[in-house]
Amino acid sequence: MSILHNEQTGIFSLETAHSLYQMKADATGVLLHLYYGGKTGGDMDYLIRYTDRGFSGNPYELSSNRGYSLDTLPQEYSGNGVGDFRLPAVQVLSENGSRSVDLRFVGYAIAKGRRQLSDLPFVREAEETETLTITLRDSVIDLDLELKYHVFPSQDVIVRSARLINTGNQPLVIEKAASACVDFLYGDFDVIHFHGRHCMERIPERLSLPRGVASFGSRRGMSSHHSNPFVILCDRHATENTGDCYGCMLMYSGNHLEEMEVDQAGSTRLVSGIHPDGFSWTLAPGEAFQTPEALLSYSANGLNGLSRHYHDIIRHQVISPRWQTAKRPVLINSWEAAYFDFDAEKILRFARSAKEMGMEMLVLDDGWFGKRDDDNAGLGDWVVNEKKLGCSMQELSDQIHALGLEFGLWFEPEMVNEDSDLYRAHPDWALADPDRKPMLARNQLVLDMSRQDVVDYLFDAMCAVLDHAKIEYVKWDFNRSISNCYSHALSADRQGEVAHRFMLGTYQLLDRLLKRYPDLMIEGCSGGGGRFDAGMLYYCPQIWCSDDSDAVERLEIQRGTSYGYPASTMGAHVSASPNHQTGRMTPLSTRSIIAQSGTFGYELNPEKLTDAEKEEIKKQISDYHRFELLIAEGSYYRLTELDENKDFEAWMFVSPDQKEALVNLVMTHVRANGPFPHIRLQGLNPQYHYRLEGENIAHSGLALVNGGFAFPQMHRDYPAAQLHLVAIDEA
Ligand code: GLA
Repeated sequence: MSILHNEQTGIFSLETAHSLYQMKADATGVLLHLYYGGKTGGDMDYLIRYTDRGFSGNPYELSSNRGYSLDTLPQEYSGNGVGDFRLPAVQVLSENGSRSVDLRFVGYAIAKGRRQLSDLPFVREAEETETLTITLRDSVIDLDLELKYHVFPSQDVIVRSARLINTGNQPLVIEKAASACVDFLYGDFDVIHFHGRHCMERIPERLSLPRGVASFGSRRGMSSHHSNPFVILCDRHATENTGDCYGCMLMYSGNHLEEMEVDQAGSTRLVSGIHPDGFSWTLAPGEAFQTPEALLSYSANGLNGLSRHYHDIIRHQVISPRWQTAKRPVLINSWEAAYFDFDAEKILRFARSAKEMGMEMLVLDDGWFGKRDDDNAGLGDWVVNEKKLGCSMQELSDQIHALGLEFGLWFEPEMVNEDSDLYRAHPDWALADPDRKPMLARNQLVLDMSRQDVVDYLFDAMCAVLDHAKIEYVKWDFNRSISNCYSHALSADRQGEVAHRFMLGTYQLLDRLLKRYPDLMIEGCSGGGGRFDAGMLYYCPQIWCSDDSDAVERLEIQRGTSYGYPASTMGAHVSASPNHQTGRMTPLSTRSIIAQSGTFGYELNPEKLTDAEKEEIKKQISDYHRFELLIAEGSYYRLTELDENKDFEAWMFVSPDQKEALVNLVMTHVRANGPFPHIRLQGLNPQYHYRLEGENIAHSGLALVNGGFAFPQMHRDYPAAQLHLVAIDEA
């Protein structure tokens, strides 16, 4: 049993393998948060002390008890406007103009398993999953709130969400409904958030939480390159391998907000959910609103420990079962090889060469449809441009399959160009304010995915392509942020719903396509990693990590991504040198080592490769096949501390049985007469001896973890080394 309710004390305990989460409804019905952290073996309500703090008032019925204030007590889901002056989790506008919400305990239910969500991605049930539902009620506005807790014990993850139900007979307007709110009574925290930009996503920044509010989020209609929906709170001394760390990851691909407030007494509140700016949702009598899910996790083993919890749950409970253990194809993508300049003959030449080198799939990127010879026209017209190709898609696909390769195709379903037949026929299908010219980005507009007719059109248009050629893979792109978020199909008072309805439309389209083509692999993409989040990962087992394919830049991007997401989700390709984004020259071997720590592929013109390079690529692909399971299933460890080491980056994978490991090191700064790059390995079994491939030598796990390993000095620009360890016996 991972969920317990003690009838005497009223305490709810949620237990995972290494964590405990406790709460209880007190005598006034307020649901108090008691504790989240390492196991304690007992009840933690003794941590709460009551005192009369000036300017922290008291609920009316408790006015004689001036030590009781909603403003000072740790709460599980704080309502707006009734005495807690910290960040609210929920705000609802009633017909009379009040925005107050006062939630009191009504009841609870504990169940095995979990219910699926119908229109949002969710964390899939594991065998041992249990669910706690706590119902709170505001009986003045007739609002019921169901707090859901799905416990995943062996992954050390608790999944939270909230469901708001209008039980009265007046409409209610939800203005804020967080997915999770967690109060930490004690502790000084650093926050790590993941900021970025197009071509440089998920860069970790670690900051001491200030007094007051710190917040990160996106109002771009997408989870964004600029701020990933994932934050870590860690104790001020936490390192990669030591210290308390808490994660909160939102399973959502649209506008989001992560807020942290350190209050007057030093307590910290974390609130995460749909961004309330511009959001409102009318809840008619009898209707319910479900928030996205938030994945909470705690680790006492530093940032690496926390990352492994997220890797585990994403690999096994977020990614579709279809792809959890299936090998991913080594692909070649046409984008940086040809951009818009191709015909079927050129693509087939790429395919032949790719096959000779051992690649397994050819992906035809942007430019195969409508009037699409550059990025100014054609989006929305998902009709094969046979004139440009010189044949039908079926003929091209047949020939690629005849070579022994699989075939993939690029789409950008949610977008439209003004210069397209679709826009000419349905200008009202694009998001745009009335009487105002919309912002253009990459010369394109955003389709109104809140409309069912738009979703239906896209489903039919994509099926028409997918039905007429053998296509195993779709790259699903999204190449601008959403502005002018106004739908012509909704009334003025419901425009606050458009951004969320947009996401529901996108999720619906993905879901319908995957039901119709259960073996189709959809790789997510948004100008690289602009929608790299657990919501998209529910549908897409891998996401193109960044439009920056420069190997050295990728070190940072993939490291940042690794805090929340496993290597098996990171689309990573070997691209040309000099690199197209930076002009940087890097050795082919270094490019391969870095791309291998993702879903391996190539994105270069094979006709420009020398024979020697082709031979090297053959070897890279066969090496990758030796290691791909270890990389996909192994435990991942960052071997350098954030911001501390400037000369090299190192990371490793250890197989679940600890019998095999792969260590990677890339020099980012080679120094004359420099020190030997030395690292202490992680995750090895101290009892085992490990043989180092290529060297007739073995070391004990204990030695490699405590004493570490010194690599030889390396020369030239950006050299890399890889160490493959295999356990030979027990020490
Ligand atoms: C985005 C993607 C690229 C490529 C182009 C095509 O930028 O991230 O990989 O598909 O679109 O236009």
